[in-house]
Order: sequence, then C-alpha cells, then structure tokens
Amino acid sequence: MPNVNVELGDRSYNIQIGANLLNELGTMCQQHNLGQKCVIVTDSNVEAAYAEIVTDSLKASGFDPIRITIKPGEVSKNLQVVQMCYELLAKHRIERNSFIVALGGGVVGDLAGFVAATYLRGISLVQIPTTLLAQVDSSVGGKVGVNLPAGKNLVGSFHQPRFVICDRATLASLPDREYKAGLAEVIKYGIIYDAQFFTQLDQNVDLLMNRDPAFLDLVIARCCQIKAAIVGKDEKESGLRAILNFGHTIGHGLEAITGYGRLLHGEAISIGQIAAARLSHMRLGLSKHDVERITSVFQRVGLPITIVLDASERRSLLEAMNLDKKVVSGGIKFVLIKSIGESEFGLRVEESMVAEIVDTLHEQ
Ligand SMILES: NC(=O)c1ccc[n+]([C@@H]2O[C@H](COP(=O)([O-])OP(=O)(O)OC[C@H]3O[C@@H](n4cnc5c(N)ncnc54)[C@H](O)[C@@H]3O)[C@@H](O)[C@H]2O)c1
Ligand SMILES: [Zn+2]
Repeated sequence: MPNVNVELGDRSYNIQIGANLLNELGTMCQQHNLGQKCVIVTDSNVEAAYAEIVTDSLKASGFDPIRITIKPGEVSKNLQVVQMCYELLAKHRIERNSFIVALGGGVVGDLAGFVAATYLRGISLVQIPTTLLAQVDSSVGGKVGVNLPAGKNLVGSFHQPRFVICDRATLASLPDREYKAGLAEVIKYGIIYDAQFFTQLDQNVDLLMNRDPAFLDLVIARCCQIKAAIVGKDEKESGLRAILNFGHTIGHGLEAITGYGRLLHGEAISIGQIAAARLSHMRLGLSKHDVERITSVFQRVGLPITIVLDASERRSLLEAMNLDKKVVSGGIKFVLIKSIGESEFGLRVEESMVAEIVDTLHEQ
C-alpha cells in the first residue's frame, strides 16, 4: 500500500493510500492518541455510502463519535454552516483533545477543517477524502476555509491534519463528471512538476478512464507526493506553492463569470490550463508540440478544452481576473511553463496578451 509523508517538522503527517482502509480508522486514531470524543462531518451523499463503516470502526476502538451531516455541494461552504457546527460541538461538549473526521469531498474537508482550526482555538483533524479532487489536492496541505457572498475561500486558515486516509475504493461511487473533474488536477501535477508522470498519464488514458485500481493507487500516490514536496518547501504560499495555481487564473475567472455551478472547478481549470499552455508558448517559448500534447490529454479524458464566450463575457472574464488577487501593475500574474514539468510562478503578463488568448478559447 503506497504511503506518503508530508514533512512539516512536528506537524508532519502521513497519507495512507489504498482500498478498503475505512475500517482501519479507529486503530489509526488510537495510534495517534486522539481523545475519546469525536465528530464525523460528512454530506448526505457520502453519509449514505460510508458513514456507517467509519462510525463502526471508531466505536470498535472505544471512541465516541457524533455525526454532523451537511447538504452536498458548494452551497454548504459558508459561515452559517460553520456556526451550526460550533453550536453542535458545544452542545456535545467537544473538548480540546477531541477531534474531527472530515469524511467527504473538498467541500466537507474545507468546512470541517475550518471548524477544527478554530473551535477552542484548534482541535485535531483527520481527513478522509472521498472524491478524486479531494484525494489528490484539497485534503493535503492544510488549507481550510469557507466562502463569503463576496467570493470563494475568502475566510480561512492553515490547519494540517493528523493523518489522511485516501481510500481509493470510495471513488467507485463517484459520478463520472466529478471523477473527470478530479483528473484535471491530476494532469496539472504532471504539467507543472513531473514530465515523466505526464507521459505516463498521456500513454494510459484508458486505464485512467476505467478507474483501473492499480493505476489509480499509483496516480494518487504520485500526486500526493508532488503536493507534499511542494507544501513541505513552502507551507504558507510565500513562493513555490503558487505553481499549484497553474490554469487557475483563467479557471477561477471562468467559474466566477459562469456563476459557480455551470462548470465544475476541474472543468474550469481544464480550459484554464489550455489557456495557460498557449500563454506559455507566447511568453516562455513552450513548444507547439507540448501545447498540443497538453490539449490532447485533456480532450481524451473528456474534459472541456474550449468555451464559447460573447464579447461582454470576455470583458467580464478579464475583470474577474483583475479582482482575483493576482493583479500587478499593468498586467496579470500567471504560473506558466517553459516545458512540460518545468514551471515558473509570478510572471506578469500584459492584459492585452491575456485578452488575445481569451479570444482563442472557442477554438481547439
Ligand atoms: N483546501 C484546498 O487546498 C483545496 C484545493 C482544491 C479545492 N478545494 C475546494 O474543494 C471543493 C471542491 O471539492 P470536490 O470537488 O471534492 O467537491 P464536493 O465536496 O462538493 O464533492 C462533489 C460531489 O460528490 C459527492 N461525493 C463525494 N464523495 C463521493 C463518493 N465517494 N461517491 C459519490 N458521491 C460523492 C458530494 O456529495 C458532492 O455532491 C471546493 O470548495 C474547492 O474550493 C480546496
Ligand atoms: Zn484547483
């Protein structure tokens, strides 16, 4: 079973990757000397499939879990739901040595993680991600938070989990569209950090699409290793960690102008990565061949690579990027690549060049 370490001094932790790991949760919590009282935070889709096995495992090891179930989706990632969680934690006398288990996708992980980071000034957190996106991205690295009406992820903190369990078997029930959205982050790791991994994905699209168990274990482990290496060097995003935002400048803009819902995050950053690859060609001389290889992988896994925007939507997209914390005087900051696997962050790109690329988004 692959096993990845995130090295952060006394806050280092382990990511277990494999199948049918949920019933080992209780034993692992014992090994980490976690307190008896705990809270499972989940959403109603995940609860139906996996909450019982997690609850039974905790009880069998002598823990005393309560459960908080939220509505699925981004609508729940807000301060009202955080407040509701705080009230339940107080009612059930959750203590300083109690812990929270985040069982679900990135929404549950970010929300429950934020509650764990702030309740009693911080209690322990265990992440059990159940979407591909959460397993390869959001459950690792300690960023937790919620949305405000003014924008996504505007309130948050850094709170590293005590350990992470990536049970690949939980992905079997994930809807196809959500699974593909996770693949957009998977492919991103190859593009920004590991040319060999990119080639492996490129050559094994059929295994990816069939959710081949052995290949998935390898893929999840490699993504977690890459994220762990980056976070280990730059936990609070003062530099290198920014490369994880490849494709996200335009991707976040697309999510904002389409009203958070029409495109899943993974779909938006698929188009965003195509745009970033084209910009990399113009600005850093990325070869045309590499732009084509990148485009072809996204296309073959069934992610969108084009979007039709009218003139006013194109203007809104540029405005949204200007609002997205990434402006520098006279331009917009981007992560770009010189070649596949070799990225540079903090590059200023003239707004006119960004506009030129946005104009090409309707073409392959
Ligand atoms: N903290 C970070 O570093 C970080 C990084 C990337 C994304 N995020 C956040 O993650 C969130 C998106 O996460 P997501 O894509 O996992 O979305 P999500 O949590 O909304 O899950 C997607 C859908 O899949 C369902 N689901 C989850 N697991 C399932 C399973 N095993 N079987 C069947 N259905 C299942 C959920 O109920 C939901 O309907 C966003 O809020 C984003 O901001 C955070
Ligand atoms: Zn992302």
